[in-house]
Amino acid sequence: MGIGIAQVSAQNAKTNVLVLDADERQLEKGLKFIASNLEKAVVKGKLSATERDETLGRIKTTTDIADFAQTDFVIEAVSENPSLKRELFLNLDKITKPSAILSSNTSSISITKIAAATTRAEKVIGMHFMNPVPVMQLVEIIPGLATSQETLKVTLDLAKKMGKITTESADVPGFIANRVLMPYINEAVYVLQEGIATKEDIDTTMKLGTNVPMGPLTLADFIGLDTCLAIMKVLHSQLGDTKYRPSPLLVKYVDAGWLGKKSGRGFYEYP
Ligand code: CAA
Repeated sequence: MGIGIAQVSAQNAKTNVLVLDADERQLEKGLKFIASNLEKAVVKGKLSATERDETLGRIKTTTDIADFAQTDFVIEAVSENPSLKRELFLNLDKITKPSAILSSNTSSISITKIAAATTRAEKVIGMHFMNPVPVMQLVEIIPGLATSQETLKVTLDLAKKMGKITTESADVPGFIANRVLMPYINEAVYVLQEGIATKEDIDTTMKLGTNVPMGPLTLADFIGLDTCLAIMKVLHSQLGDTKYRPSPLLVKYVDAGWLGKKSGRGFYEYP
């Protein structure tokens, strides 16, 4: 998702972007992906060659977090691991200038808790993008307990410049999107687990029956079954209601390393 966010920042908001990853190869892969997305847009006549080159020219990469010293706005998109996120924010707080806003693309972790790892909770906010970022219109904006009105305003303006439509959610587990989406996906896995229907029929029923682009099991594979499980665990543990209990079949697939599209196998196989 980080690469998608970098693309819309450089392409639509026309800002200079610095992308950080611990792995140089991931950065190279990400840049190639953006270049190929932009090339497709040029071929389709949606983007000029000059705009493509200017967009690519705005994107730089690094493996050193110290390079964020002069950054005005950070969007973190590491995996859904609370201690990893808190550690990163602790470091960002030390490295970035005091005026910098630190945002998180978390899909379910408390912004207030992430903010507490910093000395600038008023400048920490949630910016929850949807995958694939260049295509999906929405960004959920989540102010934490201490987020200032100024931080909210700057973040809303940036999301708008990226070409996104925003909604605002209170800082609660799953926010709006995953509070609704993940129990829906989890229930689809229960329907499969209970032998009520085949995976194809579950997906076709929901795709054609509710006019969505993907059925819930295909969508789960697309999002990543580990991500779906992590979010269900947050909903279950923090809201305490058994209705959020992760499906044992979902747990089993993740245990098997069947993580969906990214691992080549989830509910479906991806050769
Ligand atoms: N990056 C950039 N562009 C992409 C892309 C990607 N990863 N994947 C697809 N696209 C673009 C294609 O280039 C194409 O562009 P044009 O219209 O300019 O030709 C367009 O999207 C449509 O793509 P395709 O024709 O290849 O395929 P499609 O029509 O089947 O659409 C899809 C693919 C956009 C992924 C569509 O199936 C879809 O919208 N699926 C549902 C996605 C969804 O629900 N996302 C939210 C998940 S929840 C989440 O992200 C939050 C969370 O916390 C878990």
